[in-house]
Amino acid sequence: MIAAADPKQARIIADFPILAKPTSRGKRLVYLDSAASSQKPRAVIEALVDYYEGYNANIHRGVYELAARATDAFEEARAKVARFVNAAHTQEIIWTRNTTEAINLVSFSWGLANLRPGDAILTSQVEHHSNLVPWQLLAEKTGAELRFIPAADDGTLLLDDLDTLLRGTKLVALAHVSNTLGSIAPLDVIIPRAHAAGAVVLVDAAQSVPHLPVDVQALDVDFLAASGHKMCGPTGIGFLYGKRALLEAMPPFLTGGDMIKRVTYETTSFNELPWKFEAGTSNIADAIALGAAVDYLTEVGMDWIREHEVRVTSYALERLRTLEQRGLAIYGPAKAEDRGGVISFNFADIHAHDLASLLDLDGVCVRAGHHCTMPLMEKMGWPATARASFYLYNTEEDVDALVAALENAAKVFRIA
Ligand SMILES: Cc1ncc(COP(=O)(O)O)c(C=O)c1O
Repeated sequence: MIAAADPKQARIIADFPILAKPTSRGKRLVYLDSAASSQKPRAVIEALVDYYEGYNANIHRGVYELAARATDAFEEARAKVARFVNAAHTQEIIWTRNTTEAINLVSFSWGLANLRPGDAILTSQVEHHSNLVPWQLLAEKTGAELRFIPAADDGTLLLDDLDTLLRGTKLVALAHVSNTLGSIAPLDVIIPRAHAAGAVVLVDAAQSVPHLPVDVQALDVDFLAASGHKMCGPTGIGFLYGKRALLEAMPPFLTGGDMIKRVTYETTSFNELPWKFEAGTSNIADAIALGAAVDYLTEVGMDWIREHEVRVTSYALERLRTLEQRGLAIYGPAKAEDRGGVISFNFADIHAHDLASLLDLDGVCVRAGHHCTMPLMEKMGWPATARASFYLYNTEEDVDALVAALENAAKVFRIA
């Protein structure tokens, strides 16, 4: 049993100051909403304070020492992210605000330049709105057709018709791990087949980069998007990985300062990668702090994090299944090994929002709603689900607290 008594686990928990603070009702904070946003370790918070207190200056332009320190730290953070996902070149990492902006960058830049009527964009039925709405709009603007890989009820992608769906497809855009069901896309199967059909592949890695080792070269993915705030980093910073040749051929997304090489009154030549895609003053502090988050995750070990989450998720599935005869419905793949650390559920006829509010009384934070996957919820016939999601600082004790809080909710709703 992994609990706070395990020395490594105890050290990790102690690294997150918020976890030591009781809730406003005096309960132990049981944070089970890391799929929405993770908590931040002290090292990340200190990186922000160090920058603002020690070397705050704008980057790239200043010749004085303070500006050089800020520039070095900012670019070093990019190199850390590149190493973290095993990019071949540091210039292949473009800073964005989050996963959503990274996907929009590809949609506006690559998509508008490359798609024509008669082409297709292939995504799936489990996508987050951030990996769906940009493609709906791109299809509308370009006359391309939007297609979907169907999903089984547990979120597993059904690949029987993949070759037909890939015919005429120029772009495949898929979530690595579903934020609602936890199902993991078989990218090792899909990416080679997409490439063989002549398509470019974008992976929405918002729920994978924080939780399991991701190697962009091993996957041979063309674009990959992730958010800092879900991987122990601050809000307001994320990144797009893109293969260098693709990024070089793409027009800029946003324009203005910093992304230029030379400007006359009439015309502009653009900066080299990665700065071609980073118009205006960047989010310097948060990029540097994301570098600190990457250091932190690397030190803990991504293999350890994945194994830990499988253990905790497996224990959670086992404990939650004891409530099934009382009306608890658990969604997603049956085995912890086949899913990320995300469990969606409903309890008898309690609305998911009421359930989340009741759990909150016991200090247990879970998300309730459509999880930004409204089409998936509609397909499944669920108005909403509650969702518990785990990360490196969660333990089996947190799972026990969740189950105890569910039992308290059952009492309130007189569920026998
Ligand atoms: C699978 C997936 N894609 C995209 C996003 C969007 O992330 P962000 O809001 O950080 O852009 C999320 C956030 O929950 C997600 O889970």
